[in-house]
Amino acid sequence: MTFKILVTSQKGGVGKSTLSANLVAYFSRRMGLKTTLIDWDLHGSSSNWLLHAPNVGVVVQHLSLPVDQGGNRPIFEARLQLRHATKTSDVVLCDLTWSDYLAGELMFEFDMVLVPTSVSEIELGATAGFLSRNRWVFDSAAARRPMLLVCPTRVLPEQLASNIFTQQRFPVSFMLAPPVQESQTARDLYERGFLMDSQDVCGLSFQEFARAVCAAKEMRMAQIQSKAISPPKSAPYLVSETNTFASERTGPLCPPKHGVLEGLVGTAQYSILGRHRQRKLAEAEQSDTMTQSKATFGITNKQEKSTASSRSLSSLSIPEFIRRMARNPTSAKL
Ligand SMILES: Nc1ncnc2c1ncn2[C@@H]1O[C@H](COP(=O)(O)OP(=O)(O)OP(=O)(O)O)[C@@H](O)[C@H]1O
Ligand SMILES: [Mg+2]
Repeated sequence: MTFKILVTSQKGGVGKSTLSANLVAYFSRRMGLKTTLIDWDLHGSSSNWLLHAPNVGVVVQHLSLPVDQGGNRPIFEARLQLRHATKTSDVVLCDLTWSDYLAGELMFEFDMVLVPTSVSEIELGATAGFLSRNRWVFDSAAARRPMLLVCPTRVLPEQLASNIFTQQRFPVSFMLAPPVQESQTARDLYERGFLMDSQDVCGLSFQEFARAVCAAKEMRMAQIQSKAISPPKSAPYLVSETNTFASERTGPLCPPKHGVLEGLVGTAQYSILGRHRQRKLAEAEQSDTMTQSKATFGITNKQEKSTASSRSLSSLSIPEFIRRMARNPTSAKL
């Protein structure tokens, strides 16, 4: 079965094409999957990236979608293009700037809708508006509704430490991917290389993000294959607390019926963010232990500096709101 991902947002410049190009490269070269990129962007940024960078074995198609025509035309066109691409691919990823002319039904053609958003108030507001207008898709009771993965992009170190997501209520059920950090590397690598080969904060955060997408993909594939009706122990969702529908639904990817956030304690190990969170907590704990043993055994200045920097990196590499959730999942606000 081919896994279909739509990378989209209505806002320009949030990193759709950067994520698209780098994700398909990751799927192809790191995961060994037959991968097709369909670039529906007029400018062809993601397809150009792939066509000029060293070959990673991705099939690249720069196609047009009649987004401005509205109605069913774009959906039929997309369906045809996808059908063609899925014949030869394990993964098909489409890069698209969303338009209000498009009918939300288009998203049902996909297994996952990945929405990059930077985390300034204005961008989060725009993302909330986009999700709200298409809420019926993500909160649909249809068994094959796409899973929604929101990805914070171009995140600055100070934003990682802020509570920005606690002030923002997304009106739908969504999973939150590990953030991809801002760095010049992302710009420099355009048409030259890929973030999976970079060891700077942006490259490393991208790799963590890509692993999370792969984990979500596996969950989704397993659920489709097992045709599970309700996943009481494995709901991968992190649910926005303003979501009033989530606890009422009974589809394959629904959170447990008894409560929107209740399931998170028991299901953390299955959720993408849960895994991310657990690893970060383990790192933080390890770092704490190191700091304690440093105090006990008298570590030199140089060693102290490197311990401090690894500590600050590990505590900065995850937003405060995620750490808060890890400590007290039932009272956390998303
Ligand atoms: N993590 C990052 N760090 C720094 N710059 C980034 C990052 N991600 C993307 N950019 C830069 O932001 C700009 C917009 O990125 P990109 O073209 O991927 O966004 P987009 O959402 O596809 O835009 P559009 O809506 O125009 O298609 C580009 O200059 C890109 O190099
Ligand atoms: Mg683009």
